[in-house]
Amino acid sequence: MVTKIGLDLGYANITISDVSSGIFREPSVALIDRESRRIASVGNAALSEENTNGMVLVRPFKNGLLFDHQLTQGIINTAVKAVLPAERLRCVVGVPSDFLPKQEKELFAMLNAAGVSDCFSVNRALAALVGAGYSPAMSVISVNIGAASTEIAVFSDGVITHTVREAVGGEDFDKAVKQYIYEQGDVNVSLSVARAIKEKLGSVWSGKENDSVDIEGTLSLTGNRVKMNITTEDIIGVFEKPLHKLFMAVAGAIKKIPIDNVEKTFKNGIVLTGGASLIHGLDIMMSKVLGVSVTRPDDALDSVAKGLSRINTFIPVKGRAANKNVTNSVAKYYENKKST
Ligand SMILES: Nc1ncnc2c1ncn2[C@@H]1O[C@H](COP(=O)(O)OP(=O)(O)OP(=O)(O)O)[C@@H](O)[C@H]1O
Ligand SMILES: [Mg+2]
Repeated sequence: MVTKIGLDLGYANITISDVSSGIFREPSVALIDRESRRIASVGNAALSEENTNGMVLVRPFKNGLLFDHQLTQGIINTAVKAVLPAERLRCVVGVPSDFLPKQEKELFAMLNAAGVSDCFSVNRALAALVGAGYSPAMSVISVNIGAASTEIAVFSDGVITHTVREAVGGEDFDKAVKQYIYEQGDVNVSLSVARAIKEKLGSVWSGKENDSVDIEGTLSLTGNRVKMNITTEDIIGVFEKPLHKLFMAVAGAIKKIPIDNVEKTFKNGIVLTGGASLIHGLDIMMSKVLGVSVTRPDDALDSVAKGLSRINTFIPVKGRAANKNVTNSVAKYYENKKST
């Protein structure tokens, strides 16, 4: 029996998708011993033990890059254990558009060491498009806004003619909320409090007024704890900088559409996914600012993982174990599968 999974190693979340058994998502954090660097726990367990003495909480997948081999291997082992034992595990993993062949080789080796027999990798914006329910053979723009990065790909009749990773994501929105609260009264809040405020109140378009949240922060001068009430109206406008960076990046990609494909691509517009795309009204604002239609699925947080597992079902089965980037073959696999 071959179990076919999709694996998305994000900065905020590790998500495994299995077409038959669904989605398994954990925060991509590990609690490690400050001295020995040994991993004590991973995911939600690590978050609940965050304040243990001598331990430090780390996020290993900043900007899609794997900067600590031991840590990454430990996290991958834990994630893969959630789907093992399978007689044979076949995994499609999402990779950033600027991932180097050397890094890809290391990632495959780590997945093999964790028990994955066959590994394939795919551009994350392509996986997001398929996960949102679109054909990889069409002309369209895929924009996936994660926690640290935004992956953009221009598809021209199934071929990726331009792809880029921009270092802007949900955490930049969190930092904007944190900065706003600090400027209001020298009050410090943690990034996780700022993130919770953003997720509850964050809005860039009308339709989400009159909501508020009570928070606690620390007065920077005295260190005293203070209580505050933040409203939706308070944080309207705080996202200007990250939004500007995001729109400039997407506008840059629009300019790269091959001229003879502009009409076709504009018919389909932008497919917007990723957790940070869930800020209220971001799809509407992007569409107004850039003059392109924007569609966002309800399950935008899991689009990459869902797409990866769906792509796994298109890839033809070969007897021999493989480690390979199949980004450029996905449209062909999809068309072949459709015609059988
Ligand atoms: N309802 C929501 N409103 C606004 N932001 C949200 C919402 N739900 C999740 N997010 C944000 O989505 C981000 C996580 O999204 P996602 O899981 O796609 O990132 P990731 O894949 O881990 O990161 P990356 O792709 O950069 O490696 C976080 O910044 C989180 O705060
Ligand atoms: Mg992501």
